[in-house]
Amino acid sequence: MILALETSCDDTCAAVITRAGEIRSNVVSSQGIHDRYGGVVPEIASRHHLELVNAVVDDALAQAGATLDDAELIAVTQGPGLVGALLVGVATAKGLAAARRLPLAPVDHLQGHVAANFLAPDPVEPPFLCLLASGGHTLLARVTEHGTHQRLGTTLDDAAGEAFDKGARLLGLGYPGGPALSKLALDGDPGAFAFPTAARVGGLDFSFAGLKTALLYKVRELGEEEAQRRRADLAASYEHAIVETLMARVERALEAEPDARLAIGGGVAANARLRERAAGLGVPVKVPPIALCTDNAAMIGSAARWVEPVPFPGYLGLDAYPTAA
Ligand code: KG4
Ligand code: ZN
Repeated sequence: MILALETSCDDTCAAVITRAGEIRSNVVSSQGIHDRYGGVVPEIASRHHLELVNAVVDDALAQAGATLDDAELIAVTQGPGLVGALLVGVATAKGLAAARRLPLAPVDHLQGHVAANFLAPDPVEPPFLCLLASGGHTLLARVTEHGTHQRLGTTLDDAAGEAFDKGARLLGLGYPGGPALSKLALDGDPGAFAFPTAARVGGLDFSFAGLKTALLYKVRELGEEEAQRRRADLAASYEHAIVETLMARVERALEAEPDARLAIGGGVAANARLRERAAGLGVPVKVPPIALCTDNAAMIGSAARWVEPVPFPGYLGLDAYPTAA
């Protein structure tokens, strides 16, 4: 069995999976302490990882009915992410692996999101296109083999989830803003305001910074009272613009690969409008269960199956990396 850890952002995660990709346990401890700051505070996240990680690993083993003796491989997210947060996972993984002289598999976080699609009971086989949209990343990738992905497009500024969060904040909603904003949007008209969808950004890259500014100006233009009265319309139009920004690139990529399939991951994959829009693309679409779309360690264990494991003691000097290469 593979024991996997993921601590790249604010969720402390551990999972036990089999080599065949069956999930025996998948524990996520959400810190829930960043809400009051309107976003994740890196130093606070690291400290909480440190407090939680041993208990989360114990939970993952207990729920799997396993002990450390059953682990053949320790997998851990090496990057990208918050470096202090990553270091807690990497150091813990090294300690667990070294104590049993086990090999260690360092995993790329984005490849982890891709590999969520390879987990049982309903794995997708390459080739497919993969759209990842979360609070930290926005990526369109082509997946032709299990162990890697080819980046087709990424965001030039904010991530899609970040756009949801910042828009929600402007509308006076709490953090994380995505779920709150899309709930409010249910009562609004997505055509009420025309927000930009970064149509001028060529190729398959994304941009959300202009959209956020457009919302800010619109709220100012309407004035406090009117903006308050039309909050649902603002939310619906803003959500529409984010979904269209994402889907325009997906459509562009699909034009080049008419018989491609699409897989969607990241926290924004929870968005109902996005799912609806993707379902209408006319290609098979796979959205893993939400627990596997948001950050979790099962996806890291899954990716580790195609990573060359580092034998003891070669990984003792292993470092985390904060940004994608
Ligand atoms: O993958 P995730 O849990 O964490 C990382 O950022 O890696 O993604 C969280 C992001 C947040 O920005 C949140 O606002 C967004 O996903 N999100 C949503 C929805 N649920 C979560 N955005 C839009 N609609 C949703 N229903
Ligand atoms: Zn992520």
